[in-house]
This record gives sequence, structure tokens and C-alpha cells, in this order.
Amino acid sequence: MSSSQHSFRGSSPAIALAQRRSRFTYRNLTQMASYNTACPLRVVAHVDLDCFYAQAEMVRLGVPEDQPLAVQQWQGLIAVNYPARAYGIGRMCTATEARRLCPSLISQHVATWREGDDKWAYRPDAAENIATDKVSLDPYRLESRRILAVIKEHLPSHLQKVEKAGIDEVFLDLSAHVHAVLLERFPELADPPPHGDSSEPLPMPSISALDWQADALVDLDDDHAEFDDPDWDDVAILVASEIVRNIRAAIREKLRYTCAGGIARNKLLSKLGSAYKKPNQQTVIRNGAVRHFLSGFKFTKFRNLGGKLGEQVSQAFSTESVQELLAVSVEQLKLKLGDDTGVWVYNTLRGIDTSEVNPRTQIKSMLSAKSFRPSIGTVDQARGWLMIFVADIYARLVEEGVLENKRRPKTINLHHRHGTQTRSRQSPIPQGRFLDEETLLGLAKTLLNQIVQEGHIWPCSNLSLSVGGFEDGISGNMGIDGFLLKGDEAQALNIGPRARVEAEGSGLPHQAEKRRRMDDGGIQRFFTKKETPPSLGSSDSVLRENGGETLGRRCREVGSDGNDGVDGPSIPDEGAGAQANDQKTAAGGHPCARCGACLEDSEALQSHQDWHFAKDLQEKERGGLAFGNQTSVIAASPHSGPWKTGPAGPKRPGRPKKTEPGQQKLTFG
Ligand code: CTP
Ligand code: CA
Ligand code: CA
Repeated sequence: MSSSQHSFRGSSPAIALAQRRSRFTYRNLTQMASYNTACPLRVVAHVDLDCFYAQAEMVRLGVPEDQPLAVQQWQGLIAVNYPARAYGIGRMCTATEARRLCPSLISQHVATWREGDDKWAYRPDAAENIATDKVSLDPYRLESRRILAVIKEHLPSHLQKVEKAGIDEVFLDLSAHVHAVLLERFPELADPPPHGDSSEPLPMPSISALDWQADALVDLDDDHAEFDDPDWDDVAILVASEIVRNIRAAIREKLRYTCAGGIARNKLLSKLGSAYKKPNQQTVIRNGAVRHFLSGFKFTKFRNLGGKLGEQVSQAFSTESVQELLAVSVEQLKLKLGDDTGVWVYNTLRGIDTSEVNPRTQIKSMLSAKSFRPSIGTVDQARGWLMIFVADIYARLVEEGVLENKRRPKTINLHHRHGTQTRSRQSPIPQGRFLDEETLLGLAKTLLNQIVQEGHIWPCSNLSLSVGGFEDGISGNMGIDGFLLKGDEAQALNIGPRARVEAEGSGLPHQAEKRRRMDDGGIQRFFTKKETPPSLGSSDSVLRENGGETLGRRCREVGSDGNDGVDGPSIPDEGAGAQANDQKTAAGGHPCARCGACLEDSEALQSHQDWHFAKDLQEKERGGLAFGNQTSVIAASPHSGPWKTGPAGPKRPGRPKKTEPGQQKLTFG
């Protein structure tokens, strides 16, 4: 990265300084280069886009920055820009309430898939067509990918460790990059340790004051003072902060998005940091400021403590305050929560988190679903929806590299709900030949036929299609030439909507269009009956699994379309306590026995339960990955998580179901 020595003020290479020693050793410095998660000089950043979907619409529509804008999904709002927030508009508002609060509000409906159209589009009448439209988040996924690309461009290719942590957020382990910058700026660090002993302390940094520029710099703990000479952890965080500032500036300049950043020693702290000052700011939490920073939080705001585990802890100790829980000994925590969880909570409260920034977060399954209100009653209607689901899923498979056969799913599942009865059918996806949209649709229809043959399946209130069991690389008998489709060839074969967008640009023929028209006489005939949408309407959902983390629809959006790629507290299995804040709670509503969410009516409750059902299936599929990379610092092994899976199976006392509530639902891409 470009050197900015100006950040280091008051260089004072005094002899006295040279004689004083750092708290850190040569070994610690080396650990930085290898991304050692226990390294005390580790630097991690979290970058989160401001009001992401809203910004995506502002950028797309060329809306001035001070124009209030919200993103609408049926009658609800799913993203609100900061000018609109100033009017008191939030995600809890309906579109009507929001316009009352701010008559000049632009309320842009999300793009939808629709009958007869094989591509999502922005439609002025989408909000009224809840019964026949399905939300598409593809525009945001595309923007998300562009943003990720800019981030990666601004990091040296051999020194990047980037984790897509949600549709609008990433974690960056900047340790190795910062290590390289430190060696460049402080050549004395490259000297061998005295006596060749790497446990020798480093010399102190040859500077006495750091220029933090305009960052929100969290105040130091009481026992640290600003005039203390900075040590290498401070310098490392300063360098990381410069890197993040440059990345944010590049995203702004190239794509016009603003984002917030958090820079600290781990994921837990950096994520809290990025949310600390929004929009368009970055917060630096130095090691000496951690205690002070955390003491003001409720621990239920922490990654992994937002859900059931957080609830369990707050019930066990009758508090949500970090400050109060700091007084509880590790023994007491272990007693109430079990050994592993107790230790993990103890560490987390102290800002200790050695979980990896994991760039290999791969999708494990994809689901596309719709809850019908009113219910559907014919095979033709169901088939029409299967076409939409397949188009939706295939577009995401293309992103995953199915055309190049980089990754492909092994199984396809169809779930069908009639009254309280849910039926599912699964089939393998034939390997050994190119996977196209038609193959998937054929399989989905076969599964539907199997269900249809059972009889008594109408009306149907929910259908969901999912693919899973992803595998890398070439499989089956086909030779490499037959399998690896690249460039134009791949594009020509690509029949997904995204591919069509690409094909349009390249002037390639739209083979898919022809095929689709031939198929079953076109999708439009499945949607001839237009019914007035009920107040809350049908719900779609998109669940994705990413590196062991389920991506799911927010609970508050039960009754409206689902979203993936978002984070926050309202996923059903994160616990009712967390959801309550984020959910439209209807007085005298219909509570979900699973998570306590309160739904407006029985139909909404049923949709919600479908969500649980689909999610359970995914959980089953993926097995126990959660918390695999959490590491307890107090526990002896730096690589054993508190919920380590032993020979006897997972031992996960009171663990939440997902790995990282803050970062689930991926989906940069
Ligand atoms: N999102 C959603 N439903 C929610 C929460 C989030 O659909 N209950 C979507 C939003 O549209 C949002 C994106 O996911 O734009 C990212 O979510 P998040 O980072 O939590 O919020 P932002 O809208 O980006 O706002 P902030 O500036 O606070 O990050
Ligand atoms: Ca955001
Ligand atoms: Ca986010």
C-alpha cells in the first residue's frame, strides 16, 4: 500500500527509546505474517455498507445524497437511507406510515420476478402483485460483488484474507498486510532478534505520537493514558486504519457507496466498531480501549450472543450488561453454562475472540420459496412457481461457478405444504454432464409429480425448492474438455437470467429464451387468476448456507418477502428476545412456539413455521459446523473451539444454532 509516513508524527529516535523494550516479541511479529489468531498484534477490520439496499437504489437511480429514500418490499420497508432516518422512518414503518412522516420520500420497491418474464425487473406495480411476484435481491448481490472486487483490488493479492460476511459486509484480517507495511516503514524490525531468540522483546516504535486523523477513536481504559508511548499494537492498528480508509475511499470513488469500518484486534471488536459510528465513519478500538469500549454494551449485541445463548446467559445472571457480567467468575459461568460455553462467554465479555477470518465461506445449499396467500390449487400453478424457483436458484448457481463446473449441487429437494402437512421429496442431480436450468426444472417437476400422486395436496400454502450437497470440481465420467465451459462457450450455454444479461452485452443469442418458450406453453398460463393481495401477502424466502452459516429471511419480514445477505438479530433461531426489537408484534397475535415470534394471523404463523421447517432441513443437511472456528483463549488449545466436536459427536452446551449471527447470510456474491 502507499506509504503515508505523514501519519507518524513526532519521530523521536532517541537513544532512550532504543533502550526501552516493547511488550511484544519478535515471535509476535512473525505471528502477524502467518495470520496467527492468537497473535497479540493481530489486526482485523469489518467494513459494512451504510443502508445498503437503499444506497444501491440511490446509486442506480442517481438520487441526490440528501434525498430521503427507502426500499420497499410489498408494504414494508427493508432499508432506509440516513436522510429518511432523520424523519423517524425505520424498517418498522410501513410504506404508508413512512410517506406520512416524509411526503418527499422516494419509496422504491425491490425488483421482482414475474410470470411471463424470465428475468427480474423493477416494476412500478410490484407492491400490488404480491400474489404473483417474487422478490429478487439479485441487483444487490451484483452490487455486493462489485464492492467486494474493489476491496480486493485494494489489497495486495498475496496478502489478503477477506471474508464475505453478509451481503453488505466483510471482515478483513489485515495482519500480514500490516506486517509488510511495518517492515517497510520500520526497517529495524527486519533485524534478527538479539541472540537469535525470538522471545526477545522488540525495540519500541521509533515514534511517540500517532496521527489518527478523523477516525472515531475509542477512548482508552482508565489505566492507559493517551500520552503513553505507543507500542506496536497501536502502530499496527493505525496502519490497518489507513488501509481501511483507503479502501472506503476507493469504494466511494469508484462505486459511489459509503460504508463504515471498525478496526480492532479481532472480529468481535471490529464488528462492534463498524456499527459504532454510522454512516461513513470508521472506528478504531485500540487494545488499551477495549474494556472501556465494551463496558457500555449489552452483551446481546455481540456476535454469537444475540440469540438463544445470549438469552440463556441473561436469564442465568439476570442481566444483559457487560459491566455487570464482568463481575461473574469463570467458575460461575461454567457452572451455569457448561465448561466450554462458560469459558467462551468469559472471554467474549473481555473482547477476546480468536475466530478466524475465513475466506472460504462456501455456500452449502440454496433455497427459493414462496408462501402463498391465497393458497394455490393446481399443478400448473405449482409448476409455474417451480420455473421461477429454478431461474432464481440457477442464477445463483452461475455465480457459484456452475458453468465452469467449479461447484455444483448434488441433490434437489422440493417441499410442499398443505394445511398442517408438509411433504418433501428429494432426488440426486445427475452428475457427469453439464448442469443446466432445464435439467433442474425437469427434476423439480418430477418431484412435484411424486407429491401430486399422493393426492390430497391442494390447496398448497407453501412450496420451496432447494439444492444442496455442493461439490467442487469435475465429477462423473465426462472428460475435462466436455466439462469445462469457459468464456463464450459458457455464456452461450448459460440460460440463467444473469447469464442473459451478460449475453445481451456480448450479442450472443438467447438460447434460453427459446427453450423457455417451448417449455409447457410458457409460464403465463399459470398465473391467469389475479387475486387481490391480502394485507400482508405471500412470502418468499431465500435461504442460503454459507460456510456453515444459514442465511435466512428475517423474522420481522414474515408475511413479506424474505431477504438473504443481511445481518441483525431477527432470524428466528437467534432467539425471541432479539427478535422482539425488530419485529412487528401484533397484540393478541399468533406466537411461534419455536422462537416466540408473534405473527399477525394464523396464515402468517404458518408461513413462519414453514421457514423453520425449511431451515431445519438445511440444518440437518449441513450437520454441525457452527462454532467450529471459535477458540477459547483460556482453554489450552488455541485451535479447539468451545463447541469442539469430539468422537462422541458435537458437544455444544446451550450453543446457538448458527456460527455468527452478525455475519451469517453472506452474501457478497
Ligand atoms: N435487511 C433486510 N431486513 C432486515 C435487515 C436488513 O432486508 N431486517 C437488508 C437491508 O435492506 C440492508 C441490508 O440488508 O440494506 C444490510 O443490512 P444491515 O447492514 O443490517 O443494515 P443497513 O440497511 O445496511 O443499514 P446500516 O447503515 O445500519 O448498516
Ligand atoms: Ca449495512
Ligand atoms: Ca450488514
